Amino acid sequence: MFILVNLKTYPCDPVAVAEAVRDVDESTDVARVAVAPQATHLERVAETGAETWAQHVDPIDYGSNTGHTLAETVADAGAVGTLINHSERRLKLADVDGAVEAADRAGLETVVCANNPAQIGAAAALEPDAVAVEPPELIGTGTPVSQADPEIVEGAVAAAANVDSDVSVLCGAGISTGDDVVAAGELGSEGVLLASGVAKADDPTAALSDLVDPL
Ligand code: G3P
Repeated sequence: MFILVNLKTYPCDPVAVAEAVRDVDESTDVARVAVAPQATHLERVAETGAETWAQHVDPIDYGSNTGHTLAETVADAGAVGTLINHSERRLKLADVDGAVEAADRAGLETVVCANNPAQIGAAAALEPDAVAVEPPELIGTGTPVSQADPEIVEGAVAAAANVDSDVSVLCGAGISTGDDVVAAGELGSEGVLLASGVAKADDPTAALSDLVDPL
């Protein structure tokens, strides 16, 4: 299972969480654990040796794009992948397409987020490496999508397979325990996106260990 920990703009120590991510990733053969800090923390986080992802890249190339995030800069900072179209950083469809192209150009792995199976089908058609279904109303609630809305995960898996069977499906929102991760896997998800369960934990290493223990 792929476990991608999104730090959003939570006031956690990104390096401490990254070290926990690295240690837990190295301690298991059954999970791949990565962290997505804020753009300005990418370099420091990547230096820990943790697998580092960006939270966003813009659909741009080098040039006059003040205030934008260039995929090549993210890759230079040490990121190996990027989220695109997170529900807290939504893009127009054409811009999702452009951001996937920009990430591909920079050699970044891509996960395109979407709210529901219909959007997952559209996202999969843009040929990212993976799509992630996250019902916005469950984000940050601690109520796991795998329990509150299993149909949306199964629907997302079916919608992506219908369009492109090479695109993996992840799910997220409210995931905080190993049982939630196991349940996500049983619904056909190949990984999870989560944030508050780790970023707000007093002991991120313990929180991450709990996530991978039952796998
Ligand atoms: O990107 C993951 C995120 O949106 C889920 O947040 O706090 O419900 O794990 P959370």
